[in-house]
Formats: sequence, structure tokens, C-alpha cells
Amino acid sequence: MTEHATGAQSWQQAGDGTRYHEHDVRMRADDGGLLEIMHATTDTGAMLRARFAARCCMRGAVSRAEDLSGVWRFRELVMPTAGDAIVSHPEGNTPLLGRDRLRAFTGADGLLIKHEGHNPTGSFKDRGMTVGVTQAKRVGARAVACASTGNTSASLASYAANAGIPALVFVPDGQIALGKLTQTLAYGARTLMVRGDFDRCLALVQEASASLGIYLVNSINPWRIEGQKTIVFELLEQLGWIAPDFLVLPAGNLGNTAAFGKALREARALGLIDRVPRLVSVQAEGANPFFRGFADDFATRHRVEAHTIATAIKIGDPASWDRAVQGIRESDGLVLSVSDEEILAAKVVIDATGVGCEPASAASVAGVRQLVARGVVQPSHSVVAVLTGHVLKDPGILVQYHQEREPAPPDANRPIVIDATIRAVADVLDRVSAA
Ligand code: F0G
Repeated sequence: MTEHATGAQSWQQAGDGTRYHEHDVRMRADDGGLLEIMHATTDTGAMLRARFAARCCMRGAVSRAEDLSGVWRFRELVMPTAGDAIVSHPEGNTPLLGRDRLRAFTGADGLLIKHEGHNPTGSFKDRGMTVGVTQAKRVGARAVACASTGNTSASLASYAANAGIPALVFVPDGQIALGKLTQTLAYGARTLMVRGDFDRCLALVQEASASLGIYLVNSINPWRIEGQKTIVFELLEQLGWIAPDFLVLPAGNLGNTAAFGKALREARALGLIDRVPRLVSVQAEGANPFFRGFADDFATRHRVEAHTIATAIKIGDPASWDRAVQGIRESDGLVLSVSDEEILAAKVVIDATGVGCEPASAASVAGVRQLVARGVVQPSHSVVAVLTGHVLKDPGILVQYHQEREPAPPDANRPIVIDATIRAVADVLDRVSAA
């Protein structure tokens, strides 16, 4: 028998307070709203901080396998009763980076970057997926499914393979990044290319899950949110449990905004931190329904037809709207909208520092730059911007930027064709060292 956290108890809760058992496979409450996982714990913030620190990064006989995971070492606040069911790579334990060039680019002297592209399948999705697939295993799901623009599908395919559960992924036909499709196929998920956009795929997979009994692991699944909260716990721990002034992330379907809001609420309530950062969600201009909502104080639920180069956030009808609104309101947060050009400009600098990220992720850095320009972020403020995915996603945009765009942008890194001679190499070297 494995350890369960002291006196821990978890359940699923509807907006009106109705409770459902933690093993109930329903995705929605009777009133149609999304569910939230609640944990009752007698642990104090100080007890939890000590336990998390003791588990961190240990190897060898004294450690438990799940302690190696940057998700499961926070298990009291994620899924305290997982026991032997845990399906882990492990994941998480991602770096918090400082780069002078990004500070100069944004004007935020206290900027740090939390790089979730360092997760096993290349995005933050692995943090939610380890928990979603663990739940699928606990409830004996015969198959799991998701809709995706790429990262979720690669993540689900990998974790389902690890768990030995068949997976179905629904992706928009012709709109999924090649590398992500490759991962999904390689890990063995059945891949359905749906004639429609992401919003259509999400509607279809929900219907399929309700009528065919497939276990759904999109971020409307409340267990996914529990895993994604650990991005926040981990970065707070890396900061010695001193919250930054601003916490900035890209936003599409709003699962992550909801997860960050919930993590901050819980961290504050438990006394893990004594103040909450302002949460900043950044949307692409052509896919910005949440930004429009923020502009009218969330009086209306907006929907748009989404267009942006940032494929991961090309979403017009975000599912986790209400939970995300709560996160923004409670943290005195902000929602921003940045153009594709601003996203690309940020990405080129992030990449040139050697850090690299996918286009959607660069929205967070573009957002920090906008906040500094507007005078909301002062140079002295501490800011954490989350990079959600890896540089190898959507490489076509960068190939176009560096190799094909006319006229060449000043920082374009054009490949150079040379004769196979030392003389030709020496010429290039002279030019590089003169620059
Ligand atoms: N960043 C990346 C790299 C993503 O893959 C996603 C979502 C987001 C940001 C937005 O997060 O939806 O929680 O607001 N990607 C989904 C997918 C849609 O299918 O992989 P969100």
C-alpha cells in the first residue's frame, strides 16, 4: 500500500457547490458547467514547503519514483490519492532563466523566463497530461481522447502509450504542425484529421466522449488543471516562495490561465506565499475573444473566428472562460492582445538568446514588452514570463523569416552557400568576426 497524504481527501465540485466523487468520469456538472477539483488538507504551508523541498531532485534508494517529477512532488495539491496509478515520465522540473538580451528587449530588468518547452514532449501539456492519464488509468478508461492544435495530441499520445491505454486525437486537417503530428503518430495514437478548426474538433470530441464513453483529457478535464498548477508551484519554489509582481502567459483555450489562477488562490490560502502576483494572459490579435471580454469587464462571452501564426493559441471559443475570468479578477490581472508581428519580433530575440520557443510562447514576452511600454510594468518590477513550448514547433515561420523574407530583416540569419574550399570558409569567418 502506498502513502496517501495525511488526511487528504479530494472531490470534484460544481459552480453551485455540488460535490461529485473523485472517480466520477463525468466532464460536466448537472448544470452543464465545468468541474473543479478540491482537496481538503490539514497541512500548513510550512509543512508543505518542507516536504516539497525534501523531495526535490532526489535520486537513489531513498526517493520514490514520483518525487523525480516536477508535478508529483506537489501531489498533496494535485492528486493526493493517486498511489500506484501514477503515469509519469517524469515531467516538470523546468528551468527559470534570466537573459540580459530579453531584459533589454522588453525593458523589464527583473524578467525571468520559465521554460516549459523543457518537458518530455516539448510543452507544458505534459504537466496536465500526467495527471489526466493517471486518472484515466484509475477509473479504468478503455480509451482516452483529446482535440488539439498539436501539443496536447503529442502529450496525450506519449502518456497513453506509457499507460497502455488506446488514444484518439482529433486535429484540424491540414493545420497541425508537422513535428507534432510526427510525435503523435510515432507514439501510436489514432489520429483523426477533422475537416474543421480546433473549436470544431473540441466540440466533436466532447460529443464523442459523452456518447461513446471515451475518457476526455482536454483541459476542460479538471485533473489536467491540477497538473498545470504545478508550473506556478514550481516557479514560486524556485523564487524561494516570494511571488513575482507579474506572472505572464500566452492564452488560447484558457486552461492554463484557469490553472494559474487556481494555483495562486490555493498557494495564498495555504500560506505558501503571502501575496499574489498579477496574472497577465496574452492573446494573439486575430484570436483574442478573452481580451475583448476583459475590455468590457467580462460582461459578454466573446467568440471569434481565429487567425494567427501562433497555431497553439489559434482558438476562437475558449472552453475555460469562467475559470479564467476568476483567475484574472482575483489577482487584479490583465488580458493583452499582441499582433503576429509583435509575436514574431519577440520570438526572434528569444531564439537569438539561445533559449528558443514556439510562436505562441513568444506572446508572453511580447506582452511584457507591451506592459513596459504602457508603464504598467516598471523596470524594477519582478516579472516571470512563461514559455509554453519548444523552438522546434512551427519551424516554417522561422525558415521563412531567416531564409526567404524579402527584403531580409536586419537580424535575418541567412544560410550561406559556399564552395567546398577552406578559402570560402575563411571568407565567412572574416565577415563574422568583423561584424
Ligand atoms: N502555449 C502552447 C505551446 C500551447 O500548446 C497552448 C495550447 C497554449 C499556449 C494555450 O494554452 O489553451 O491553456 O490557454 N495548446 C492546445 C493544444 C490548444 O492543442 O496543444 P491554453
